[in-house]
Amino acid sequence: MAALRLLVVGGTRFVGRHLVAEALRRGHDVTLLTRGRTNPDLFPEAERLRGDRRQGGLELLRGRPFDAVFDTCGYFPAEVRALASTVAPSVGQLTFVSSISVYPQPVAPGTDESAAVEVLDGPVPESGEPGEAYGALKALCERAAEDELPGRVLHVRPGLVVGPHDPTDRFTYWPRRIAEGGPVLAAERSQPVQLIDARDLAAFMLDLSEAGRTGVFNATGPTRATTMEQVLTACVAASGSDAEPVWAGEAFLAEQGVESWSELPLWVPAEFAGFLQVDASRARAAGLRFRPLTETVADTLAWDATRPPAERVDLLARERERELLRALGV
Ligand SMILES: NC(=O)c1ccc[n+]([C@@H]2O[C@H](COP(=O)([O-])OP(=O)(O)OC[C@H]3O[C@@H](n4cnc5c(N)ncnc54)[C@H](OP(=O)(O)O)[C@@H]3O)[C@@H](O)[C@H]2O)c1
Repeated sequence: MAALRLLVVGGTRFVGRHLVAEALRRGHDVTLLTRGRTNPDLFPEAERLRGDRRQGGLELLRGRPFDAVFDTCGYFPAEVRALASTVAPSVGQLTFVSSISVYPQPVAPGTDESAAVEVLDGPVPESGEPGEAYGALKALCERAAEDELPGRVLHVRPGLVVGPHDPTDRFTYWPRRIAEGGPVLAAERSQPVQLIDARDLAAFMLDLSEAGRTGVFNATGPTRATTMEQVLTACVAASGSDAEPVWAGEAFLAEQGVESWSELPLWVPAEFAGFLQVDASRARAAGLRFRPLTETVADTLAWDATRPPAERVDLLARERERELLRALGV
């Protein structure tokens, strides 16, 4: 297809970074707007505008024609509205990177795009850290974009995004820990783990944007999610390690005060497991494809090995893991 003029607000950390890399690979003309703080030397082949979207930076975009715009770093409705209204007269379509966190917890398994979204209780903040209000604010961001560009917005709601350059260490913990070998503390072998490789997400967003598609799409893994056991098996296969998962079970972990998700990565108590079983069949029908899990694991492990040690954070510290394994008699 002919090269498009694309604007990415953001684009140098993780999700946006893969999007920009893929857009350039496809031969598009890409302009980035960032503050120049996160990996400022990336993508010399793109036009790199420097500005803070929250502090006047959007003026650099006024009147500039683009075929499509991607907002990968919108967290507050005021900033999304400001971007959408600034570009409205001179762009075709806008893709807003939202989240499945728009659905109130606990999310029912099989939740699709028709489900109600979370409603913010109290005043709407305009900046700072979204914190607990993250999902409700994303829902308001979607609405703000739609108000300014009616019928011209593609709302993509990713679930857990993983792969190289993931700054959270949530998924990366597992390939790294399994590669070290030995007994490995894990939660429940049959727990669903629904995830999407950031590169598959990037390709999907570009495909839809190139086709001028709009509307709302959950962008997660298959509804019949992978299990935690399959994730760990893929990690063993990628590293050839002698690791052996020790399935501690939810009751033991709760009794020991282990925090789900934030301390033992990817562990979600059964009550909240619907969050990892969202229905992405609409996106599948529109072309979303998933690479094999083993490829995601291998590439994540290879990338992780290139990171400075201080950046590689084990959410569950080794010492704490040893303590918990001892309590299990291992
Ligand atoms: N990770 C997940 O599992 C997950 C799941 C669901 C949804 N999401 C959504 O996916 C997106 C992921 O974000 P990402 O960080 O990976 O995207 P990214 O586009 O790769 O990185 C964030 C970008 O925003 C720029 N930026 C931050 N504040 C800015 C400002 N005030 N003005 C201009 N540029 C600014 C940063 O550059 P500078 O710092 O240089 O400004 C950086 O380029 C988010 O919208 C998130 O809500 C993520």
